[in-house]
Amino acid sequence: MTTDIQTELKQAVERRRNFAIISHPDAGKTTLTEKLLLYGGAIHQAGAVKARRTQRKATSDWMAMEQQRGISITSTVLQFDYNNYQINLLDTPGHQDFSEDTYRTLAAADNAVMLIDAAKGLEPQTRKLFEVCKMRSLPIFTFINKLDRPGREPLESIDEIEQELGLQTYAVNWPIGMGDRFKGIFDRRQQAIHLFERRAHGSQQAEERVISLGDPKIEEYLDRDLYYQLKEDLELLGELGGELDLEAVHAGQMTPVFFGSAMTNFGVRLFLEAFLEYALKPGGRNSSLGVLDPIYPEFTGFVFKLQANMDPKHRDRVAFIRVCTGKFEKDMTVNHARTGKTIRLSRPQKLFAQDRESIETAYPGDVIGLNNPGVFAIGDTIYNGKKLEYEGIPCFSPELFAYLKNPNPSKFKQFQKGIQELREEGAVQIMYSMDDFKRDPILAAVGQLQFEVVQFRMQNEYGVETTIEPLPYNLARWVAGGWDAIEKAGRIFNTLTVKDNWGRPVLLFKNEWNLQQVKEDHPELQLNAIAPVG
Ligand code: G4P
Repeated sequence: MTTDIQTELKQAVERRRNFAIISHPDAGKTTLTEKLLLYGGAIHQAGAVKARRTQRKATSDWMAMEQQRGISITSTVLQFDYNNYQINLLDTPGHQDFSEDTYRTLAAADNAVMLIDAAKGLEPQTRKLFEVCKMRSLPIFTFINKLDRPGREPLESIDEIEQELGLQTYAVNWPIGMGDRFKGIFDRRQQAIHLFERRAHGSQQAEERVISLGDPKIEEYLDRDLYYQLKEDLELLGELGGELDLEAVHAGQMTPVFFGSAMTNFGVRLFLEAFLEYALKPGGRNSSLGVLDPIYPEFTGFVFKLQANMDPKHRDRVAFIRVCTGKFEKDMTVNHARTGKTIRLSRPQKLFAQDRESIETAYPGDVIGLNNPGVFAIGDTIYNGKKLEYEGIPCFSPELFAYLKNPNPSKFKQFQKGIQELREEGAVQIMYSMDDFKRDPILAAVGQLQFEVVQFRMQNEYGVETTIEPLPYNLARWVAGGWDAIEKAGRIFNTLTVKDNWGRPVLLFKNEWNLQQVKEDHPELQLNAIAPVG
C-alpha cells in the first residue's frame, strides 16, 4: 500500500535530477553553470556567477571575502527548474581551491557532467575526478566545449574518451565546422540542424534556427564543403554503429556526448533537455539496512561536506547534507548515528548561488545546509525510524604532504585540540611518520588551499601560529592487510611509512616511478589509492 507521504516522495523524486560538473580549470565550468542557470530562469543575465569567480581566483581574496561577507562562498548548491524538473547542481570547488571537497561532492551526486575543452581534450583534474565517478559507477554526460574556437576533430575527442577512459561513447549531436567556421550542430535525436548565430558572450538565451537535413537551402547555410563533411561524418557514425544504451549510461559504462559553446550559449539548451531525459533520478544508497529506496517514508541523509566560516565573529560551520529518503522538515528532530544523540535541525539552509535562503522542506536528491555546532563529521548519518548508517565517504590519495609545526611549546594543548578537531571535521587528513622520530603531524591534502585553511583556522580559532615544512612526496597508498603486511614486506626503500587518521599504514611515494619500483620490489603488497573511511 502506498501512503500519502510515499506518493508525495515519489512525485518529488520523479522531478528531481542532480549532478556535479567535473572538469579541469578553464574548461568553462563557471560559464556553463551560468548558462544553465540562465536557461533555468534562475538568473536573467549571465555575468553574475562569473564576476564572483574572478574575485575568487586568489586565495587571499577568497579568505578576505569569507570574512567580509560572513558566509561560505566556496560551497554552492544551485537549484533551478526547467520543463517541470527541479535540477540540483552540486558545485564542486575548482581551480585554486581544489580540495577533498571536490571528491566528496561526487559522493552526493547521482550524475556527473564531464566538461572538456575541445582544443585541450582530457586534462589531469578531469581524469582524477573521472576515477571517482567510475568508482561510484555514476552516469557521465560529456559536454565538449568551445567549438567556436579551433579545436580537435570531434572524432579525435571521442576516441580519446573511449581509449583513455575506457568509456563507450554515443554522440547525441555532432558539430558542423569549428572555430571561425562553426556553423551549427546536428542533433541526432531530432535529425535536425541547429544553426549557430554568433553573439558576443551570449548574455541572453541563444535564438535558434532549426533546419532539416533535406532543406533545399542547406548548402547555402552550411557552405558546401561543410555540408559534405557532415554527410560523411554521419555515415561514419552510422557505420561505427552503436545505439544509445541508457542502461549502459546509467551504469557509468557509456557516455552520451554533446558538443557546444557555453560562452555563446550554443548547444546548452539541447544538452540540458537531453540530459534531463537521460539522467538518473535520485537513487538509493547503500546503508547498514541495505539499499533504501528514496521513497522510504522516514527522513535519512548523510553529511558529505563541512564548511567552516572564516569570520571569527560568526564561528558557525555549515554541514551539507544529502537527503536520501523521506521528507525533511524544518525544526524536525533526528538521530545522529555516530554519537546516538538526538538533534533538532533548526535553521536549515538551501544555498542558492552565494545567498543563503532558509528552507522549510526538502526531498531525496536535495542538499541542505545545517548549522553545525561541532556535532557533524564527514560521512555522518542522520536518520529517523530504524537505526541505520550510510556507507562512509572514502579517503582519496592526497598529493601534498607537509609537517605542521607549533613553534610555541606553551600552545601545545591548543595545537593538539585544533589538530584533532580539524581532522575530525575532514578539513585535512592527518598522518604521523613511523620512520623518523618527529612527532609533528603530517598534513596530507589534495589541494594547497587545505594547508592554508588549516593554518588560518589554527590561528583564528585556536590561537596557534603554525609553520609548514613541506615533504617531498606526491602519492599515498594504503596497504591492504595492515601492519602485518608491512612487517612481512621487510624494509621498503624510498618511501615514508606513516599511519593515517585511523592508525592504518600508508606509504608515501615521491612520484609514480618510485611507486612502480616499490611494486616491482614487493609484488606481495597490495597498495590502494582510495581507502574506505576507517
Ligand atoms: P572554469 O570555471 O572551468 O575555470 O572556466 P570558465 O567558465 O571561467 O572559463 C574559462 C575561460 O574560457 C573564460 O575566458 C571563458 O570565457 C572561456 N570560455 C568558456 N566557455 C567558452 C566557449 O564556449 N568558447 C570560448 N571561446 N571560450 C569559452 P577568460 O578569458 O578567462 O574570461 P573572460 O574574459 O571570458 O571573462
